[in-house]
Amino acid sequence: MKVLVVGAGGREHAIVRALKRSPQKPELLCAPGNAGIAADARLLEIPADDVQWLLAAVERESVDLTIVGPEVPLVAGLVDALAEKGHLAFGPSAAAARLEGSKMFAKDAMEAAGVPTARWSRVRTLQEGIDAVRELTRKPGSPGAGVVIKADGLAAGKGVTVADTPEEAEAALREIFVEGRFGDGEASAVVEERLTGEELSLLAVCDGERAVALAPARDFKRIGEGDEGPNTGGMGSYSPVAGFDEERVREIVATVHQPVVDLMCERGTPFHGILYAGLMLTPDGLRVLEFNVRFGDPETQAVLPRLRSDLLDVLLRASRPGGLEGVRLEWSLASAVTVVLASAGYPESASQGEVIAGLEQFRERYGDAGSERAHDSGMAVELTHAGTARTAAGVVTAGGRVLNVTALGDGADSARDAAYAAAEMIYFDGMQLRRDIAANAEVKTAQATSEDTR
Ligand code: AMP
Ligand code: GLY
Repeated sequence: MKVLVVGAGGREHAIVRALKRSPQKPELLCAPGNAGIAADARLLEIPADDVQWLLAAVERESVDLTIVGPEVPLVAGLVDALAEKGHLAFGPSAAAARLEGSKMFAKDAMEAAGVPTARWSRVRTLQEGIDAVRELTRKPGSPGAGVVIKADGLAAGKGVTVADTPEEAEAALREIFVEGRFGDGEASAVVEERLTGEELSLLAVCDGERAVALAPARDFKRIGEGDEGPNTGGMGSYSPVAGFDEERVREIVATVHQPVVDLMCERGTPFHGILYAGLMLTPDGLRVLEFNVRFGDPETQAVLPRLRSDLLDVLLRASRPGGLEGVRLEWSLASAVTVVLASAGYPESASQGEVIAGLEQFRERYGDAGSERAHDSGMAVELTHAGTARTAAGVVTAGGRVLNVTALGDGADSARDAAYAAAEMIYFDGMQLRRDIAANAEVKTAQATSEDTR
């Protein structure tokens, strides 16, 4: 079986590695991939958002299954283009991908499906925005701690402003409505109440009719330790998350993912692929902050190494209507912690072309982490590449997030120690990493346990 993975990040490398562990031994292609994926799959030099070239490659190579990593080609209709020509693909249609592609569509869908979310209003002008901010911060019961402004379309994680004051909110609205920072079409935005609480990423694999949860994960969005500084694509992650056992996860899927899958099915735009719910555990209960329609990055790097079921089998089933019936995913009991190594200047900019030292030594020390042996040992380290490229000088940095170090261990603390020890082996000029990924994960296990017994 020939499988094409579309994308070039750590997420796609983790997907390729999990497919490599499949007993079906698929032939793996990746477009466009990176310097690390090149060791695990044959690379095709096609940008991830070039729908026509990807379609041509699938036909030329007789690909059996295409797995789409990033949101941009999904929203652009890659899966539709492939399906029209009779090719199997894992990921939602453009119509279903609107759950990520439009914040308003997502809020409307949450409302229609009865999914708990933050209070919000839709605004189409600066004045409507200012009025909505005033209204939200005045309502009784509002925490008075600000609002969140979300530009409507895809914005590569930069369209959301969590505002502490009405002035900050207004500045964000001006960027959208006056400066036209997010696209040249008619601007619109969501203004919503700011919630507080722990965040959780709960992803479910969906076959158009049902949603089956993946292991819960937590990611670290801010660049700085203690969650300081600007938002990034994600600086680290861990899985599982204390307090979210199988039963709790099933409850969440029943209140969040399944109602949305049912709604999309009723509307005639069934949802196939990964439905990623970004959740916040507020004092008033769980609320959905956002939906994504793809695997999370870097959550996937921590989640997939724990998957014991055959990922290829699961994704093939999900690509067919109702194909997940009877499927139960098996997970390793080990904890996984992923630490992202980012380049200087990230997230505002990204230095490029810095030579990465230590990769060979890393391989010698930890072996080929894509192997089955490492996966089953329960104490493995996996290095996945994101922004890397091969040049005459060796492997160099080629993006904001450069590498991900994932370690498995008995419990979050030992996984975390192993991940940081492994990260010490890598060096490039200006390398940034957060030292507090999963720092409190184990403590929270203890709290969750004592709460459970009360
Ligand atoms: P989104 O792209 O909608 O997930 O937003 C990105 C990040 O902004 C989330 O992961 C949260 O950290 C934060 N955020 C989004 N919505 C809210 C909200 N209503 N209250 C507080 N923080 C939020
Ligand atoms: N880790 C956040 C995301 O994948 O959107």
